[in-house]
Amino acid sequence: MSDSEGPRDAVPDLARTLREVLPFVHAYLPEIVDLWVASWTKTMPEIDFEARRGWLVDRIAEHLANGVHVAVAMSATGDVRGFVTIDPKTGWLDQIAVHPAVWGAGFAEALLAEARRVSPGRVGLDVNADNARAVAFYEKQGFSRVGEGRNPRSGLPTLVMEWRPK
Ligand SMILES: CC(C)(COP(=O)(O)OP(=O)(O)OC[C@H]1O[C@@H](n2cnc3c(N)ncnc32)[C@H](O)[C@@H]1OP(=O)(O)O)[C@@H](O)C(=O)NCCC(=O)NCCS
Repeated sequence: MSDSEGPRDAVPDLARTLREVLPFVHAYLPEIVDLWVASWTKTMPEIDFEARRGWLVDRIAEHLANGVHVAVAMSATGDVRGFVTIDPKTGWLDQIAVHPAVWGAGFAEALLAEARRVSPGRVGLDVNADNARAVAFYEKQGFSRVGEGRNPRSGLPTLVMEWRPK
């Protein structure tokens, strides 16, 4: 599909429709890295995420080696449109990203449901305090603010957020 964002109410667009959440396989890696660059470039345009592709590939390899669960959200057209990483031992969610062409279409909610399935007792994460869309998403999903910190790479303020079952 095209990566451009067109009118959402014109023709039903299967590429914006979630089909399923699937466990990681290496064939998904190029699409994962592409959507990660696209989503973060839209969120923080001042940072060169193209230059960080290798960092993400290494990060995912490290996660897989350490038993962290990685899952993707696939559209009805078979495109990987989002991914999440969740450590079943700690409940730590290190990465969640959805391609901006499908923001607001339920992919992120489905990925978070997968994180909760893998870690039903707790999901915790760090988020940049000025990432208003992500913070709103987590609060909508029942997360609470449980701490504050700073991103070790950028020095920007972060929030620690956590979900626990009621
Ligand atoms: C964070 C992310 C996974 C969420 O997925 P999404 O599909 O955009 O999430 P949703 O649309 O379901 O929820 C976002 C909510 O924030 C709202 N929102 C959008 N912009 C906002 C803003 N500037 N301020 C406050 N709320 C905002 C949306 O309206 C929506 O709420 P609604 O459903 O009540 O209308 C996705 O935006 C993404 O990939 N972002 C880039 C990577 C990232 O930030 N990852 C998380 C790092 S911790």
